Formats: sequence, structure tokens, C-alpha cells
Amino acid sequence: MLTHNPFADLALIISAQAIQFFVIAMILFIIIGTSLDMLHKKNVIYFFRNAKKAKKSAKTELSTGKKTAVILKTVASDIATTSELGFGKRRLAHVLGMYGTILFWIASVILIFKYSEGVEAPTYIPIMWHIGAIMTCVGGYWFWFFLRVDVSAEAHPWYRIITADLFVLALLACATFGLAWSFLQSSGMTGLSYLFLILFFLANLVLFGGVYWSKFAHMFYKPGAAIQKNLAEADGSRDNLPPPADAPEQFGLGIKREQPKHY
Ligand code: HEM
Repeated sequence: MLTHNPFADLALIISAQAIQFFVIAMILFIIIGTSLDMLHKKNVIYFFRNAKKAKKSAKTELSTGKKTAVILKTVASDIATTSELGFGKRRLAHVLGMYGTILFWIASVILIFKYSEGVEAPTYIPIMWHIGAIMTCVGGYWFWFFLRVDVSAEAHPWYRIITADLFVLALLACATFGLAWSFLQSSGMTGLSYLFLILFFLANLVLFGGVYWSKFAHMFYKPGAAIQKNLAEADGSRDNLPPPADAPEQFGLGIKREQPKHY
């Protein structure tokens, strides 16, 4: 199943152009949804205004080299390894889901645009597609069932769903239905595979069509905010926060004494 390219069989019932059009429409959904979200929340205006204000209280002027070094370090740590989640399960689950999704999306685009119309794809690309979907499921279901704050700290049951769950659930639905579709197709269960193809299609519509209402855009905002925070740290403006205490940043074991389970 891992080496099976589900889009090759799909091209037998839907034209390659129609599938490509669908992908372009999903990219447009991301751009429109994120732009509307920025207009509505005014978060980017706030972000730049705050950065400008903080610059006035900078203690040092950062050279281009120093700025580049700060940005590269942020990309390598804060962004590539989601370091703000600290060490532990939460970070591991996020990294699994994040890289899984990136692999799944990249492989989908390559299979749909480069290997359509009867051109056979090298086996590593369908493998990348399946592994990406599996990683998304492992990280996402781990988060959904065990790590979500509502469940792990507030004692809500795992099946309680709120609007904020739209992103993670739609993402999981895409990966799960995509895998089921591919599995059924490669096992020759064509009829049932169509059902999961429709579910996969609908899950994608919800994931990309719901960008405005979901947490999808955090994948663009979080890197921007991390770069700004680290630059503010390096130039001493500290986002207009008070100067650090004249003591080492050690909070003792007290901070670990109680797990956040207030119910
Ligand atoms: C393809 C890229 C990404 C995907 C698929 C992804 C996926 C997710 C998902 C599914 C969640 C759980 C959402 C929820 O609370 O319901 C999440 C939360 C989060 N993401 Fe991402 N993310 C991506 C990129 C990023 C990046 C680049 C950063 C930081 C630089 C980031 C930081 C976070 C943080 C801090 C949380 C909150 C985690 C928690 O509550 O445990 N994400 N992400």
C-alpha cells in the first residue's frame, strides 16, 4: 500500500486538470482565509505597530549580520522544532504532526502536478505521502485524545468538540480518509474506496475552506511572532517588557510542584 499512488487511479475517473484545479482552489482558500483573518483581527497591524514602538526602546542597533543570525537561529529552533512547547510529549506530538502534514502536502502536490496523465511516479513519493499521513495521525490523535488542554487539564471528555477544534479535526480527517481511500483502492475494494474519496474531498474542503474560522493560520503567525520576540530580546527592547530581574532565571522546583489539573 505504501508505494501505491492513489492519484494515478483517480485520474482514470476525474481529469488531471480538474484535480490540479482543486489543489489551486485550496491554495487560494488559504490566501483568502488568512487575509480575511488578518483584516478581521488586525493582528498584523498590531504586530508592526508594536515592533515599531519596541524599536524605540532598543538598547543596541542590530547589524544585518546579527539580525540574520537571530532569524536563522529562530528558524532552526523555535520554528523547525516548535521549541516554545518545551521538552516533552506536547512538542513531540506537534513535530510529528507538523512534519507529517508538510510531507503529505508536498507529496500530494508532486503526485498531482508532476506525475499525472499516466507518468509513473518513483515509489518514494507515494511512500512520502503515506508516511506523512501516518505521522499526522500519530501526532494529531495523540494530541486529541491525551494532550489537549481541555482533556488533560480541564477534565473534559475527549469527544467534547468546540469551534477551536476545527483545525485539528479537519487535519486528522484529511489524513485518515486519505489513508483509508488509498488502502481500499490498493486492495481492490473500489466501491468502498469511492466513499472514502468523497470523505477525503469533503475533509479538504473543510480544512482549507475553514481557514478563516480555524487555527490554520497559526502556522504563519507563530514563526513571525517568534522572529519578532527573539529580535526584541537581542536588541534589548524586550517588547517593552520590564528589564529582567537581577537574578538568574531559576524558579526552583515549586513551579513543578503541581500539575495543572484544576477540577
Ligand atoms: C504545517 C505546519 C503546522 C501544522 C500542520 C500544525 C499543526 C498544529 C495542530 C494540529 C495544533 C493543535 C491545534 C489545537 O489547539 O487544536 C497545533 C498547535 C500549536 N502549534 Fe502548530 N502546526 C504547524 C506549524 C506550527 C509552527 C511553525 C509553530 C511555531 C513556530 C507552531 C506552534 C504551535 C503551538 C505553540 C501550538 C499549541 C500547542 C498545544 O496547545 O499543545 N505550529 N499545531
